[in-house]
Amino acid sequence: MTKFRLLAVATLAISFASTIQAASPTQYVTTTSYGSEVYTVSSAFPTSDFSSMDYQPKGHEAEPRPAVPMLSSGQFNDSLVNPTMLPTAAPSSEIALPSASADLASSVGNNTDQYQNQVMSNLTSIFNQTGQSECQMCIDAVKLGQQAARTVPSMVPGMLVKLCVQYNYTESADVQKDCESQFGAAQLGGVYTQLLSYANLTEASSSVNYICSNLVDSQPCNRPEPPVLDTDFLTNWFNGTLIAPANITSRSKQTGPAQNNTLRTLHVSDFHLDPRYLVGSEAACDNGECCRSDSYNSSLWSQMDFQPGSLPMANISEPANYWGAYECNPPWALVEAGMQGITGIANKSGSIDLGIFTGDLTTHDSDAHNSQDLIKYSEQSLYDLFHRHMGNTTMVVALGNHDTAPADEAALGSLPDGLSNQTSWDYDNVASLVQSEGWGNDTTAQSIRSHYGGYSISPRQGLRVIAVNSDFWYKKNFFNYINTDEPDASGMLRWLTDELQAAETLNERAWIVGHVPTGWDGSDALDAPTNLFYHIVSRYSHTIAHIFFGHTHEDQFQVFYNVTNGNSTSASRKTQDAVANAFLGPSLTPLHNVQPSLRVYEVDPQTYEVMDYQQYFTPISEFANLTQTGPTWHLLYSARATYGNFSASQAANKYMGGVALDNGQWPASAPLNGTFWAAVTDEMESRPDLVQLHNLYQGRNSPRSPSCDSPECQAAKVCYMRSGSSSLGRACAQGYGSVQSGFSPNS
Ligand SMILES: *[C@@H]1O[C@H](CO)[C@@H](O)[C@H](O)[C@H]1NC(C)=O
Ligand SMILES: *[C@@H]1O[C@H](CO)[C@@H](O)[C@H](O)[C@H]1NC(C)=O
Ligand SMILES: *[C@@H]1O[C@H](CO)[C@@H](O)[C@H](O)[C@H]1NC(C)=O
Ligand SMILES: *[C@@H]1O[C@H](CO)[C@@H](O)[C@H](O)[C@H]1NC(C)=O
Ligand SMILES: *[C@@H]1O[C@H](CO)[C@@H](O)[C@H](O)[C@H]1NC(C)=O
Ligand SMILES: *[C@@H]1O[C@H](CO)[C@@H](O)[C@H](O)[C@H]1NC(C)=O
Ligand SMILES: *[C@@H]1O[C@H](CO)[C@@H](O)[C@H](O)[C@H]1NC(C)=O
Ligand SMILES: *[C@@H]1O[C@H](CO)[C@@H](O)[C@H](O)[C@H]1NC(C)=O
Ligand SMILES: *[C@@H]1O[C@H](CO)[C@@H](O)[C@H](O)[C@H]1NC(C)=O
Ligand SMILES: *[C@@H]1O[C@H](CO)[C@@H](O)[C@H](O)[C@H]1NC(C)=O
Ligand SMILES: *[C@@H]1O[C@H](CO)[C@@H](O)[C@H](O)[C@H]1NC(C)=O
Ligand SMILES: *[C@@H]1O[C@H](CO)[C@@H](O)[C@H](O)[C@H]1NC(C)=O
Repeated sequence: MTKFRLLAVATLAISFASTIQAASPTQYVTTTSYGSEVYTVSSAFPTSDFSSMDYQPKGHEAEPRPAVPMLSSGQFNDSLVNPTMLPTAAPSSEIALPSASADLASSVGNNTDQYQNQVMSNLTSIFNQTGQSECQMCIDAVKLGQQAARTVPSMVPGMLVKLCVQYNYTESADVQKDCESQFGAAQLGGVYTQLLSYANLTEASSSVNYICSNLVDSQPCNRPEPPVLDTDFLTNWFNGTLIAPANITSRSKQTGPAQNNTLRTLHVSDFHLDPRYLVGSEAACDNGECCRSDSYNSSLWSQMDFQPGSLPMANISEPANYWGAYECNPPWALVEAGMQGITGIANKSGSIDLGIFTGDLTTHDSDAHNSQDLIKYSEQSLYDLFHRHMGNTTMVVALGNHDTAPADEAALGSLPDGLSNQTSWDYDNVASLVQSEGWGNDTTAQSIRSHYGGYSISPRQGLRVIAVNSDFWYKKNFFNYINTDEPDASGMLRWLTDELQAAETLNERAWIVGHVPTGWDGSDALDAPTNLFYHIVSRYSHTIAHIFFGHTHEDQFQVFYNVTNGNSTSASRKTQDAVANAFLGPSLTPLHNVQPSLRVYEVDPQTYEVMDYQQYFTPISEFANLTQTGPTWHLLYSARATYGNFSASQAANKYMGGVALDNGQWPASAPLNGTFWAAVTDEMESRPDLVQLHNLYQGRNSPRSPSCDSPECQAAKVCYMRSGSSSLGRACAQGYGSVQSGFSPNS
C-alpha cells in the first residue's frame, strides 16, 4: 500500500483545505511466547543461489547485490539497484499519453501557453465560487481537465506539477522536486491525463462522483450508492443458469483420483523485495520509504537535500539492520531468509506439492524511483529463487498492484490511441518467466499475455487453479474510474467466469488466486466489480474450493454467503448461507510493524479443500542480536487447533455450522471451508478473546499491534470477516481493519 495520491487537476485546492485526520489512541499488546523453534537460517548470504554477485560485503555491514539475468540476454545493470544511486524520474520512454482531438487541438494551434493560462485561470475561478458546493467544484474541475486533456494532452502533466507547486500539495519541503516526482508524465501525470481524457462524464455515469469521492482526499462528493445488477444482466452473464444446475449441486465434491498424500501447498505473499535497502540508514523515518539512503527522521534531521547515504550516524534514530526492520521492505538478506525458510521448514524433504504467490514482488516506492526494469528485475529474481527453493514444484503467481510501473496502474484493453497494450510489457515478461521456470506451457503463456497476467493451470487431475489480476477491482488503479458503472471494463471477470464454467463442466474443483481482497473493511476495492465477483463466487460455490488473496500484509479471512439478487449488500451473512471463503495470506515484508510470514496448507487430495494450515513467522525483535546465525522461523499456530473449538457458541445455542461437532471440536474429517470460517465468526461473538487472538495473529504476534479488546473493535472485525465485497465491508464500523497503524516509536 502506498500513501494515497489524489486526482490533481480537480482537487488540489479542495484537498489543501481539508483537515488531516487525527490518529486514534491505541493500546499495545504484550508479546506472548513464541511457538516451538523450527528452523534457523544460516548467517552467510547464499551466494550459490546466483551465477555471480555484483557486490558481496565481507560481513553484515552492507546488503549483497546478486547479478540478476535479463530474459533477453545479459543481466540487469547494477546501477538499477545501487542503494545510493536513486533515480529522479521514471524513464521518459515509459510515458503514455492520449491523443489530442484534432478539432480541439486546431482551435488552440501553437498558442498552448496562452491556452494553459486560460485553463489555470478558469480553474481558479471554479475553486473561488462562493456558495458553490465542493462536490460541484470538483465536478466542474474534472470537466475542465477533460477538455484540457483532449485539447493539449502533452501539456497536462506539467500543469498538474504547476498546480501541485502552487497549492503546495506535498508533505515535503522540496515542493518542486516532490511535485515533479508525483505528477511528471512518466509517473502519474500520464495516467491522470488518460483518465481525464477518457472518463465517462455524461450525466448518467457515476464516474465523476467516484472520482470526486475516492480519488480526492477531502471526499467532496458522496460516494454513489453501490450498484445493483439486474436479472437480465445476471441471466446473460451466467448464460441462463443463475443458479447452479441440480446435477452440480447434488454431486459429490470428490474430484481428484484417490491418493494417499495431501496436497501440501505453500502460500507466500507480498515479498516487496527492496534491493536498494541501505544497512545503517534511517529505519524509523518520517519522509516516505525507510531504510533508504535518502530516509531521515525529522526529529534528528531536517534538511531535504543531502547526498544519498551521507547522513551522519548521530542523525539516525534507528539504523537499518542487515536482516530487516519493522518499517521497511525486506532487504536481500531477509528475502533469502524467506527462501531458506521455504526450503528448511515448508519444503523439507520435498514435501511441498504446489506453491501460490498472491502478488507484490516489488518494493513500495515513489513512482519516480520505479521503472519497468525494476519490476522485471523483481519478477525475474524472485521467480528464479522460488523455482530454485521449491525443488521445481509449480508456483502459481498472481500479479499484485506493485508489480507494475507506475504502481497500481493496469490499463484497460479497450483504450483507444494505441494505449490498450501499454502494460503488455509486464504480462509478456511474466508469460515468458512462467514458461521458463517450468510452471506453465505455451498455452499458459498465451493466456497470461491476453488476460492481463491471468491464467489457469491444472497441477493435479480435478483441480483448476485460476490466477487473476485484481488491479481491475483495485481502488488505486485510475483506469477503473473511466467508467465506474461497468462491473467488468477489462473483461477479467468474464474470463474468470468462463474458467469456472469450464471447471464446472469438467467436474473440477477450482481455486482462485489473486492479490487485492474484494472485501474485509472495504478500503481497497471498488463496488461494481466486487459486487459481480461476489455473485460469481456464489454461483460457482459448488466448484470453488477456496480463494486466496494477499495485499493487506495481514493474516485475515473473508466469508462469502449465498446471494442471487444482484446486490451483495443484501446477503444474509448467516452461517447457514455461507458458500465460500478467502484466505488473506500474510506478507513476508514487515511493512508496517508486522512479522514476516510463511504458510503451508494441508489440502485434501480429492476435494482440494483445506484441512488445516500451519502459520510460520520470524520475530523482528531478534534481528538486532543475530551474529552467529540468521533469523529463526517459528511455528505461530495451526488453524484447526486454534479455531476448531466451537463449544462456546454451542453452549449458547448459536452454533450454526451444520456439521456435527466432535466434543465441541470441528470433526477431523471436515474441511476448513466457508461454513467453518462463518461458524468461527459466531464463536468469536460468544468468545471475544478469540477475536483478540486473531488480532494478535493478524500481525504475527507483533509487539507493535494495537489490541482489540473493546466490544466496538471486536464487532467490527467480525463484520469484516463476513464481508466479501467492498460495499459490505464499508457498511461495517470503520477504523479497525489493520493492525499496522497507530504505532508511534515515541509512545
Ligand atoms: C506552429 O509551429 C510550427 C513549428 O514551430 C510551425 O511550423 C507552424 O507553422 C505553426 N503553426 C501555426 C498555426 O502557427
Ligand atoms: C475559460 O472561461 C471562459 C469564460 O467562461 C470561457 O470563455 C473560455 O472558453 C474558458 N477557457 C478554457 C480554456 O476553458
Ligand atoms: C477569490 O475571490 C475573492 C472574493 O470572493 C477575491 O478577493 C480573490 O481575489 C479571488 N481570488 C482569485 C485567485 O481569483
Ligand atoms: C509546503 O508544505 C510543507 C509541508 O506541509 C512545508 O514543510 C513547506 O514548508 C511548505 N512549503 C511552502 C513553500 O509553503
Ligand atoms: C457512459 O455511462 C453511461 C451510464 O452508465 C452509459 O450509458 C454510456 O454508454 C457510457 N458511455 C460510454 C461512451 O461508455
Ligand atoms: C450457453 O449455454 C448453452 C446451452 O447450455 C450452450 O450451448 C452455450 O455454449 C453456452 N454459451 C456459453 C458462452 O457458455
Ligand atoms: C448436468 O446436466 C446437464 C444438462 O442435462 C448436462 O449437459 C451436464 O453434462 C451435466 N453435468 C454433469 C457434471 O453431470
Ligand atoms: C498409497 O499408499 C500405498 C501403500 O503405502 C501405495 O502402495 C500406493 O502406491 C499409494 N498410492 C498413491 C496414489 O500414492
Ligand atoms: C530441478 O530440475 C533441474 C533440471 O531438471 C534439476 O537439475 C534439479 O536437480 C531439480 N531440482 C530439484 C531440487 O529437484
Ligand atoms: C501495441 O500494439 C501495437 C499494435 O498492435 C504494436 O505495434 C505495439 O508494438 C504494441 N506495444 C506493446 C508495448 O506491446
Ligand atoms: C498446457 O497445459 C494445460 C493444463 O495445464 C493443458 O490442458 C494443455 O493441453 C497444455 N498445452 C500444451 C500445448 O501442452
Ligand atoms: C442460494 O439461494 C438460491 C435462491 O434462494 C437457492 O436456490 C440456492 O440453492 C442457494 N444456493 C446455495 C449454495 O445455498
